[in-house]
Amino acid sequence: MSRLIVVSNRVSPPAIDSTGSQGGLAVALAAALRQSRGIWFGWSGEQVAEFTGKLDFRRAQGVTTATIDLEPRDVDEYYNGFANRTLWPLFHYRIDITEYDRQFDSGYARVNRRFADTLCPMLETDDIIWVHDYHLIPLARELRARGVRNRIGFFLHTPWPPVRLLATLPHHEALVESMFAYDLIGFQTEEWMSAFTDYCLREAGGRVEPDGTAHAYGQCVKAAAFPIGIDAEAFQKAARSNEARAMARRMRASIAGRHMIIGVDRLDYSKGLEERFTGYERFLADNPDLLNRVFLLQIAPPSRNTIGTYREIREKLDQLSGRINGAHADVDWVPLRYVNRGYSRRDLAGIYRSARIGLVTPMRDGMNLVAKEYVAAQDPKDPGVLILSRFAGAARQMKDALLVNPYSSEEIADALRQAMAMERAERVRRNSALLDGVMRDDVTSWRESFVAALKAVPQR
Ligand code: G6P
Repeated sequence: MSRLIVVSNRVSPPAIDSTGSQGGLAVALAAALRQSRGIWFGWSGEQVAEFTGKLDFRRAQGVTTATIDLEPRDVDEYYNGFANRTLWPLFHYRIDITEYDRQFDSGYARVNRRFADTLCPMLETDDIIWVHDYHLIPLARELRARGVRNRIGFFLHTPWPPVRLLATLPHHEALVESMFAYDLIGFQTEEWMSAFTDYCLREAGGRVEPDGTAHAYGQCVKAAAFPIGIDAEAFQKAARSNEARAMARRMRASIAGRHMIIGVDRLDYSKGLEERFTGYERFLADNPDLLNRVFLLQIAPPSRNTIGTYREIREKLDQLSGRINGAHADVDWVPLRYVNRGYSRRDLAGIYRSARIGLVTPMRDGMNLVAKEYVAAQDPKDPGVLILSRFAGAARQMKDALLVNPYSSEEIADALRQAMAMERAERVRRNSALLDGVMRDDVTSWRESFVAALKAVPQR
């Protein structure tokens, strides 16, 4: 059996800790690594004064991880710079805040070379290499330049932007051309995939076969959609755990007969938190009969807070939450509980289960797994209602959610009203249809279909 080598910027600890805090992706990849005696390679998250390429190998629960430390300059230019100030906003259609800086380009290229230099000596001839996300787009080209002929696949967890937006990136051709060093490129949805093939046709003057094989720059690569799922069974188990039950009891006591709306997101401008708060404010203004009968709990752990745009969104949300509570709160009721910390998966499962409405309204999102977790955590006999942005990749699969345009506070307000009034029979019908999809298209089937498609590509 060939080994699976997973490469990503961050490497999750392989041990599943006692709070169940590890994500479904990490669990799914760990299972495949364990079976194939593979390695998970990436950045340790630590910094050293000077890059040495020294690998830190660890083995836990049958999974080997190998990590490297980066220099402060690498972290600034590659992670905070090109990955998170250039590609992240650009890939989420935010060219208004995308920063273009040559220094970022060169840091990004340098770190991808460093990844390739360190990874190469570890590789065996029949290893299958699976690279994840926008931090490492040129990695395959660097590996090929070092003589690597193994099968290499790439999966993009974010959206891929339309041609006209991507064309605002200096050297966009070089970035796309570098992707032809992969054998397979996976996208979350057909929409992001066709934005990529559109680029190959229109900008690169190439051609695309019906099976998604793109030809351009004298090379070819296969593109396909592989919508990621959650570890649905494990999440349902987490929802039945003692911690989740204790959290659900704690929530019930604090909900005190009202209805809770839940939002859980990394504090990121792509998540539509500002617009969500405004939509909720509108809902409160439109429905005076519901005041004191409902509240929104928004959990938003801070993220990437050395970057200015992230500090700005945090400040805006502080102000907005103050304004909403200032205008509507009563001595015994606060309409918006805004919490800037993270919770374990088991706690979250208990919180989701206690919430009458799951409010997931990103402006743009590769997939969105909170929507799927919310569905999996519900009591099938008396489930809550999922309100989902039509601009999340998940909306393609989750047609039985109430789909909304997150730019419209009126649509958010109307959907909240509709969800509050929804009869149990309709909630049960919608949740059961959603749950079928979440259970079937889970993270294991995602991983297996990607790896099978990669193995099916003839080796170079
Ligand atoms: C998104 C990206 C991931 C990233 C995660 C957390 O989901 O697709 O690659 O790891 O955000 O962001 P961070 O910058 O903290 O790794």
